[in-house]
Amino acid sequence: MTHDASPPPPAQVMHLVSSMWAGMAAGTLARLRICDQIAAGATTPGAIAERISASPDGVARLLRAAAMLGLVSEVKPRTFALTEVGDLLRSDHPKSMRALLDTETGPGHWLPWMRLDECVRRGQSLATEALGMDLFQYYAANPDEGKVFAEGMTSLSMGAIGAVSQAWTPPAATTVVDVGGSQGAFLRWVLSARPEARGVLFDLPNVLATAAPIPRTELVGGDFFASVPAGGDLYLLKHILHDWDDARCKQILGNVRTAMAKGATVAIVEMLIPDDGSPSPAILLDLNMLVLTPGRERTQAEMTALLAAAGLTVHQVVRTHSPFSLIEARAT
Ligand SMILES: C[S@@+](CC[C@H](N)C(=O)[O-])C[C@H]1O[C@@H](n2cnc3c(N)ncnc32)[C@H](O)[C@@H]1O
Repeated sequence: MTHDASPPPPAQVMHLVSSMWAGMAAGTLARLRICDQIAAGATTPGAIAERISASPDGVARLLRAAAMLGLVSEVKPRTFALTEVGDLLRSDHPKSMRALLDTETGPGHWLPWMRLDECVRRGQSLATEALGMDLFQYYAANPDEGKVFAEGMTSLSMGAIGAVSQAWTPPAATTVVDVGGSQGAFLRWVLSARPEARGVLFDLPNVLATAAPIPRTELVGGDFFASVPAGGDLYLLKHILHDWDDARCKQILGNVRTAMAKGATVAIVEMLIPDDGSPSPAILLDLNMLVLTPGRERTQAEMTALLAAAGLTVHQVVRTHSPFSLIEARAT
């Protein structure tokens, strides 16, 4: 006789409902920077509420939920400490994930998510309707939220870089161009692995304004639909292609193809949708792309076809011990 350990179906449905509440609670803890306050010594709801101009009762109820979710622990009645997970929501943690939670549950992402049913009906993003402009224009027009988005991308990158660095050695290069590199976390790691190389961090000017200087690196603002910096022998595109439909990816890749030096390598980092239907974080990320962008997550075959259409041939696909894969391509 088999024993099914899964909770009964109604409990599983309730779990889905409360998962959304849990995510929003964690996002609010992050946005209100409550973990920073606890780390700074404000450990009671009253003390935190005073510092962030909030209701003591509201803060107490949020902390009770955060304790149940394992983000804080109630070390004595109405006194809270950070757990190891909650510690990651401190702004100054070296691997902070505060900005990622903030951005994923903030207006720039959540207003488009409220249109998911309409996105499914039409098969396209309604972010422009929800935000009054496209996502990247929205972050340019709302610089505080835009800075949090860039920081969130950096914290997402930290996990991906850890996994990629165990599976891939960047090829020797003189000039490494990070296309849509945001604050340059991936470029920073590639340059540390290739001390002989110099870097070019290329992104929209408002995004580069949030980036700290990177040794041996020039910051170049621009629009990758117009052109990308020329003469590089390694081009990085991390989480760029999933933001765009095939036609626009072809435009970006075509500009890379035109700009790259002879023999250059293009290194693409994305989550790939499994061919065999197995579960993967890429599948939910694809819905995030559906609501936010004209883009999508792709299978390896779809990526290969996309690259071929831009005159690039896949040289190798490096799978990592994470949902991220790295695809190396060269001019056909
Ligand atoms: C999903 S983020 C990925 C950032 C970074 N590569 C990473 O993995 O953390 C997409 C990036 O593309 C940049 N971007 C969007 N449109 C752009 C454009 N037209 N020209 C240059 N960069 C652009 C955004 O500013 C953003 O930094």
